[in-house]
Amino acid sequence: QHKMILDLDTGIDDALAIAYALGSPEIELIGITSEYGNVLTERSVVNSQQILNLLQHPAVPVYQGAGHALNQSDFSVLPISAEIHGQDGVGDIHLQQAVPTGETESAVDFLLTACQQYGSDLTIVATGPMTNLALAIQKDLPTLQKVGQIVIMGGALTVAGNVSPFAEANINQDPEAADLLFKSGLPVTMVGLDVTLRTLFTKADTAEWRAIGTEAAIKYADMVDYYIKAYEVTSPHLHGCALHDPLAVAVAIDPSLVTTFPLNLTTETTGPSRGRTIGDNLRLEDSTTRTQVCVQVDTPRFLNEFKTRIGQLL
Ligand code: BDR
Ligand code: CA
Repeated sequence: QHKMILDLDTGIDDALAIAYALGSPEIELIGITSEYGNVLTERSVVNSQQILNLLQHPAVPVYQGAGHALNQSDFSVLPISAEIHGQDGVGDIHLQQAVPTGETESAVDFLLTACQQYGSDLTIVATGPMTNLALAIQKDLPTLQKVGQIVIMGGALTVAGNVSPFAEANINQDPEAADLLFKSGLPVTMVGLDVTLRTLFTKADTAEWRAIGTEAAIKYADMVDYYIKAYEVTSPHLHGCALHDPLAVAVAIDPSLVTTFPLNLTTETTGPSRGRTIGDNLRLEDSTTRTQVCVQVDTPRFLNEFKTRIGQLL
């Protein structure tokens, strides 16, 4: 069975990514590494543990990672994050406390150890800022290069950003980290707003979960209803909430869900377009690109997989 690590800033769609991974027999979720982003990194650890507990997989280890961006010394949660994901990051649904798995290894060391151990049998899916990956690159790129693939949720190539006209939230948190990743030569697939804004979930969908009647199904319905409500305010032109993070997991498992475009990327780090992901003019003739940008998605097929996999788990 192929191994997967999720690198999360556990908010609501990150929690959906956990459920998608656990509901997928093709892969084994061997660990979760945590980031700041939607919440503080300590809260991300707690949220992941509580979600794993709710989904009856409490033994999956959760590792604490970066608490702030590479070029910063601390981090505070943006008001917009709390608005979209709730004060606790997972829709204020009052999850039961989980017994911590007590991991002492850092997120970065766990990522590197896993690359060493599993090599091409390992996929890393990163759906928060790219800081943990950047720290792993800085610490030991040759070991990270053993990884099978890295799939990220972040960026926007063909559409506007969601925190500024240019920047998507995960890249915006740490543009320098994203830039390091894109220039590292690692095999990266970018699942950005280009595709995630085309995969939407509605209250009619969460009603189906609620009807399952289990505690997990009801909590997931409550959590995603919170997210949908926030989208009604922040993105009234969309009919539902975007399934950003679970789409990245789905693409990692089944790349045929998307059409990709090979392109060497750069991240703008200065000026009003800070956080923008765009083709790197300095590497246009470099034919060795290892970055694939998702530009189209088979929405009906993905939504069907999403509902089936998570519905069975709940
Ligand atoms: C991304 O930003 C975060 O708020 C979400 O969890 C997702 O990973 C969407 O831009
Ligand atoms: Ca996320």
